[in-house]
Amino acid sequence: MEHWSEQTIVAFRQTLLAWYDKNKRDLPWRRDHDPYHVWVSEIMLQQTQVNTVIPYYERFMRTFPTVNDLSAAQPEQLLKAWEGLGYYSRARNLQRAAQEIVEDRHGVWPETAEKLQELTGIGPYTAGAIASIAFGEPVAAVDGNAFRVFGRLLTIDDDITKPATRKLFEATIDKIIDPNRPGDFNQAIMDLGSSYMTAKNPNVEQSPVKEFDQSYKTGHVLDYPVKTAKPRPVPVDYIALVVNTPDGYLMTKRPSNGLLANLWTFPLIKIDDLLKDDEQLSDLMDVDLVQRAQQAFATETEISLSLAPIGGRQVTHTFTHLKWQIQIFSAELKQRPDISLFAGEIVPERAFNEYPMPVVQQKLWQRWLAASTKK
Ligand code: ADE
Repeated sequence: MEHWSEQTIVAFRQTLLAWYDKNKRDLPWRRDHDPYHVWVSEIMLQQTQVNTVIPYYERFMRTFPTVNDLSAAQPEQLLKAWEGLGYYSRARNLQRAAQEIVEDRHGVWPETAEKLQELTGIGPYTAGAIASIAFGEPVAAVDGNAFRVFGRLLTIDDDITKPATRKLFEATIDKIIDPNRPGDFNQAIMDLGSSYMTAKNPNVEQSPVKEFDQSYKTGHVLDYPVKTAKPRPVPVDYIALVVNTPDGYLMTKRPSNGLLANLWTFPLIKIDDLLKDDEQLSDLMDVDLVQRAQQAFATETEISLSLAPIGGRQVTHTFTHLKWQIQIFSAELKQRPDISLFAGEIVPERAFNEYPMPVVQQKLWQRWLAASTKK
């Protein structure tokens, strides 16, 4: 990530605002700095693009010219005005916040980004936009545009899908923003983000700030902002068997390679291994699952068990790429088991601390203890 000197920051502000003064888009919500106008436009702009918003915005302002009108609107009339924009909870939140301003705050707007976030539906971006544009507070307004523009200018390598990264961007922009014209600065960034610095087909060659654009200089424009959509851990269903013998619990040692290598757990049966080709776990009745688990275990170990689910929630444990979802079954033994074919040992509870056990086993144990003391 690039860090700009004070000199570069001053030059950037000048370049950006000179460009904005000449080229800013003439948009209906830019004709004054009324917080109501800024707010409604910003909420609408979260739904869709500028050109679609313009007629909605103008109609909305004819219908509800002030925050008082909005607070007193009939819900049907409000939803009608919002119809087509989608995401109707935003319209309802808009009215709720209008009522908070009118009724709880006697019509007085909070003037800082921090205070604005106390209103329903106003998050850090909207608060930053209103505070900077309507009240001149030098605070960042970090939306997708700002992530993209500053991500590229400064080659910020942090993943913007992580919450901590928003803080980094806010802190970084707070230092760069022009303290005399913060609203224009933020809106200039929005205009850059929808012209020369778009997501897909940016035109950096012509960009007024290309000399400040580190991603351009290094030929990595499209690599920013950094957004690593993490694949979700894949769920894998297991049954854990709690086989409590007079001499201790039946514990198995995991193979010496792979996940949780060499650690000790209750015997685990992967449910997938019990299913036929096109079968899902949800296709199976509990009794069938029990039946198949008993069968599979007996085939492998020659130990015959009579299993019963202990009930309650599954135990879950997430590894980097996998999410184990485990149902616990308790086992009744007909006789003392012959464990010669079983890859494990019978371990008395007092010896547990001699057997390395992973966290997921500790979760299983705690769940088992909770379930067995309830009875
Ligand atoms: N996108 C989000 N807010 C905007 C604004 N105030 N002007 C133009 N585009 C925007």
